[in-house]
Amino acid sequence: MGCCLASFFFACDSQEPKVEEEDCAVEKTAVINPNGDSELALLMRQMYLDADSIKQLIVNDEGTVSDEFINELEQVHNAIPTDPNVKTPQFNAFNELLINQAKALQENPEDKIEGFNQLVNRCLDCHQSFCPGPMVKIKKLIIH
Ligand code: HEC
Repeated sequence: MGCCLASFFFACDSQEPKVEEEDCAVEKTAVINPNGDSELALLMRQMYLDADSIKQLIVNDEGTVSDEFINELEQVHNAIPTDPNVKTPQFNAFNELLINQAKALQENPEDKIEGFNQLVNRCLDCHQSFCPGPMVKIKKLIIH
């Protein structure tokens, strides 16, 4: 793990204009917050922002879940959490349910609002068990 973090910092130091955004977020956050945020926390923050963008697309009937979003959800499996105890079979099962719902939504343009709200419920199911703190914020994604 130490080696991976080091390479993230290295990527950011090299001043390339097209450094991957997530790597740089790691560095920036580490500077702002000396404790550092976990890889999973940073990924979740991005998932929240992306889910919010998808919500706008659906509300305006301009789009739906992208392959990129599904890829992001698949990274949850391997991202390192603040608390290593969360990585249980149950956690992975919740993550699978979320991925399945994202795929179902992507493939079914019929009722995107209902499909999106189901997706948000899959976020909440896992949070209920593993991380209740952000639930109020996540509930704001629901389309009424
Ligand atoms: C499989 C379980 C699981 C699923 C599914 C899940 N989360 Fe999370 N989420 C977590 C855990 C665990 C954390 C705490 C991460 C840490 O601190 O390492 C977290 C943290 C967060 C945070 C706080 C990040 C921060 O700033 O520290 C937000 C916001 C969030 N999740 C949003 C979402 C959204 C939106 C979805 C659905 C698109 C979702 N989560 C799906 C388990 C999950």
